[in-house]
Amino acid sequence: MTGQFDGKVVFISGAARGQGRSHAVRFAEEGADVIAVDLCGQLDSVAYPMATREDLDETVNLVEKTGRSIIAEQVDVRDFDRLREVVGRGVAEFGRLDFVLANAGIFPAVGPQRFDISSFVDAIDVNLKGVYFTIEAALPALLSHGEGGAIVITSSAAGFKSVSSTFDTMSHGAAGYTAAKHGVIGVMRHYAASLAEKNIRVNSVHPGGVATPMIINEAMGSLVGDQPAFGEAQQPKLSMPPMEPSEVTDAIVYFCGHSGRHLTGVALPMDGGLTLK
Ligand SMILES: NC(=O)c1ccc[n+]([C@@H]2O[C@H](COP(=O)([O-])OP(=O)(O)OC[C@H]3O[C@@H](n4cnc5c(N)ncnc54)[C@H](O)[C@@H]3O)[C@@H](O)[C@H]2O)c1
Repeated sequence: MTGQFDGKVVFISGAARGQGRSHAVRFAEEGADVIAVDLCGQLDSVAYPMATREDLDETVNLVEKTGRSIIAEQVDVRDFDRLREVVGRGVAEFGRLDFVLANAGIFPAVGPQRFDISSFVDAIDVNLKGVYFTIEAALPALLSHGEGGAIVITSSAAGFKSVSSTFDTMSHGAAGYTAAKHGVIGVMRHYAASLAEKNIRVNSVHPGGVATPMIINEAMGSLVGDQPAFGEAQQPKLSMPPMEPSEVTDAIVYFCGHSGRHLTGVALPMDGGLTLK
């Protein structure tokens, strides 16, 4: 069976589970080989369990089941040199790079640590600086074949609207998450404008709630229990359950494929109308 990404290679950050895993498996089903990175570790500012090496191994397993190849390494997106190293390894193995999905992220806006100033710093470091590092590390390989490519940044509805909307729900983590997710729109526009002449398209997706361990966890449950205003602020206008990761993948495949060939500089809300409120 031929897929729309036959002969292509995708680099994905945060690929151990959740949306990143979904993207890895779908791109492989469409014929792409995968270069995957994930921290596979815990940050003190994050109150829910983050992904593990076993999670990343499961992504490897699922990608290999499709018949495609994957290189998967434990890398912190705050570590530019390591990112470059792994991209280099992937390109040496697979011969090229076509797509970059800057997906890794943390949500340090839950749990008591959200009031620690390090929650702001970590949110900016991982969700903004990490996105820039991920793209920069991959850019030489994307440019090298001269055939163009596509980059998709995973921002959030929080790229358009604060996750805290009342005085009581303010925290350093909420501020950092909101600022970083707004900030990556700037990163997206920077690259979209500058890379158009190289036929590299750059867009961002802005989901509301997506059913992954980032929001389905005890710390989020107790925050919403304690502060209904926080939960209320995250409710979409459409009365639907949280999106599945595969629905975000659908949009990313659309951006990267022939379907998205005229699209660059687009910040796509996928939030059931949350940002209309
Ligand atoms: N789940 C939601 O409701 C939701 C909504 C809007 C946007 N997002 C964004 O979607 C993206 C994917 O999140 P998800 O929902 O799949 O959550 P998730 O927690 O399941 O996945 C995030 C992945 O990123 C990895 N990661 C975190 N910090 C890292 C670092 N420093 N270096 C490398 N990898 C790191 C984690 O280990 C994890 O595997 C994130 O950018 C998140 O902010 C999520």
